[in-house]
Amino acid sequence: MDGIVLLKEDHKAVKRLFRQFEKTHKAASPKQKRALVDQILKELNTHAYIEETIFYPAAREGVPEAEDHVLESVEEHHVVAWLCSELQHLDPADETFDAKVTVLIENVEHHADEEEHEWFPKVRKALGRNRLAELGEQMAAAKAHAPADPLALMSAKA
Ligand SMILES: [Fe+2]
Ligand SMILES: [Fe+2]
Repeated sequence: MDGIVLLKEDHKAVKRLFRQFEKTHKAASPKQKRALVDQILKELNTHAYIEETIFYPAAREGVPEAEDHVLESVEEHHVVAWLCSELQHLDPADETFDAKVTVLIENVEHHADEEEHEWFPKVRKALGRNRLAELGEQMAAAKAHAPADPLALMSAKA
């Protein structure tokens, strides 16, 4: 699969989970919220991992004008990784839980929109179809190796 298509599919999948949280969190039990947010954290971790280890370095190497966007994106991942780490350990019954999830959603949506609209198109143009297919295969395979701990992401230390 084309690497950018794969990343956009991931964005769509996590946005579906965000909408589910927004619709259900007021009536959900702490246990239900834990399960849904754990699923969100897993999606985000896996996605950040394949971007940071495969896509971002390839974009930086192949598309010099994308460098600033890549650096900004890593800083956005950094903020998200720390939020995810807090949420991983926070009791869903805590009064701050839903507020932290809401801020996480806002951060991730802003980040994914910038990727899709501001710089992925430049990468598509510069790298071409074959290279993007190669990256897509590498990223699909790398998903199995994503860390469970958000603070194990490279961006957490950036
Ligand atoms: Fe990203
Ligand atoms: Fe992304």
